[in-house]
Amino acid sequence: MTASSATTITAVKARRVWDSRGRPTVEADVTLADGSLGRAIAPAGASRGSNEAIDLRDAGPRFGGWDVTEALRQTNGAINQAIVGLDATDQAAVDQAMIDLDGTPNKANLGGNATIAVSMAVLHAAANQSGQPLWKYLWTQGGTPGLPVLPLPEIQIFGGGAHAGRRIDVQDFMVIATGADDYEQALAWTAEVYIAAGKIMAERGVLQGVADEGGFWPAFDANEDAAETLVQAIEKAGLKPGEQVSISLDIAASEFGKNGRYRLAREDRDMSREELAEMLVGWVNRYPIVSVEDPMSEDDAEGFLAFAQAAPKTLQIVGDDFLVTNAGRVRAAARDGALNCALIKPNQAGTITETKAAFDAARDAGIGAIVSARSGETEDVTIVHLAVGWGAKQLKVGSFTRSERMVKWNEGLRVADALGSAALPPRAAFPWG
Ligand code: PGA
Ligand code: ZN
Repeated sequence: MTASSATTITAVKARRVWDSRGRPTVEADVTLADGSLGRAIAPAGASRGSNEAIDLRDAGPRFGGWDVTEALRQTNGAINQAIVGLDATDQAAVDQAMIDLDGTPNKANLGGNATIAVSMAVLHAAANQSGQPLWKYLWTQGGTPGLPVLPLPEIQIFGGGAHAGRRIDVQDFMVIATGADDYEQALAWTAEVYIAAGKIMAERGVLQGVADEGGFWPAFDANEDAAETLVQAIEKAGLKPGEQVSISLDIAASEFGKNGRYRLAREDRDMSREELAEMLVGWVNRYPIVSVEDPMSEDDAEGFLAFAQAAPKTLQIVGDDFLVTNAGRVRAAARDGALNCALIKPNQAGTITETKAAFDAARDAGIGAIVSARSGETEDVTIVHLAVGWGAKQLKVGSFTRSERMVKWNEGLRVADALGSAALPPRAAFPWG
């Protein structure tokens, strides 16, 4: 054991806190020898990829089976013992200690919710100890000259799929302010679109409250209706669709497809992968859509390829369930030409080190990367700092309502203030890169 220094981890403590769906989740506090504290909370997905790190839940009667007492026990017991005495500035060593302790490929023993909360808390502790905000700590470590810019926001307007009682099959109808001059303007334009969309929905009598990520829960009869309404909302907001504000979809097709077959329940339609690809390419051609995530299900590499071949070359094609923030999967998919962008969700990987490896794999393969929240979120703003500090060009957080979402968009505004600029990456970097 190395001699104790200011950055040595002296304690790990977990507590049960509550997420935006009112479900239990893991919060970790990591204390260093000089008293510095790092704190982080694990988010939770609902439309989860089957190869993600395991979100360890107790099952049983409490809180619908969502309780996390075992994950807390692992954090306060085995994880605490394994990482106390390690240096918080050596994130790789801390994460490796947890990976070794767990001993499974998917954090099944300790729980990915335990390991990601601790891993992020260690990172916060090290940054706090250095006296720097987390984004700056990470940027400095990365060694890139100059200052970072803000990521371009991808913001949900309508929520469907697993986040809205499957009222429509497609999960996210989002906007990307592709023509915005800076991050502030991107948020301001999105706010106008959100308000306009709400008015249109209310007038048409199709407003049913908000979905899990804060987007409108729409009572549309066809999925395409949401895309059409989104164009109307952008226009009603006084903005130019496709020029100033573009559309982005997360199809989340794993939720309604298997073995190359897909079923749109809302429209009572069964489809092959080729038919789904054709339908989506039709939408891309009819609407100002710049990005499509998980157009096919996680088990359908052939479908991803079929879609990538049929889609316009400028379209951003994003893998979420298909890649599960796994460096090896990112490399393979990029090599095969199945997609050109990776969604990066820390709790899919289970540690910061593995998350960064997936992010770097995307960058090294020359494809894009979007740092992303989950549908179950909290006041934790770590991902905003990861996006800025790692130089990610895009950030996906859900909609433009509810504090677990706004806390992240607002954190970006604070970072912009600290930087003295709300500049976004150069426009040429989009729609993907
Ligand atoms: P999840 O959904 O957090 O429920 O998995 C988000 C997404 O699919 O991008
Ligand atoms: Zn997704």
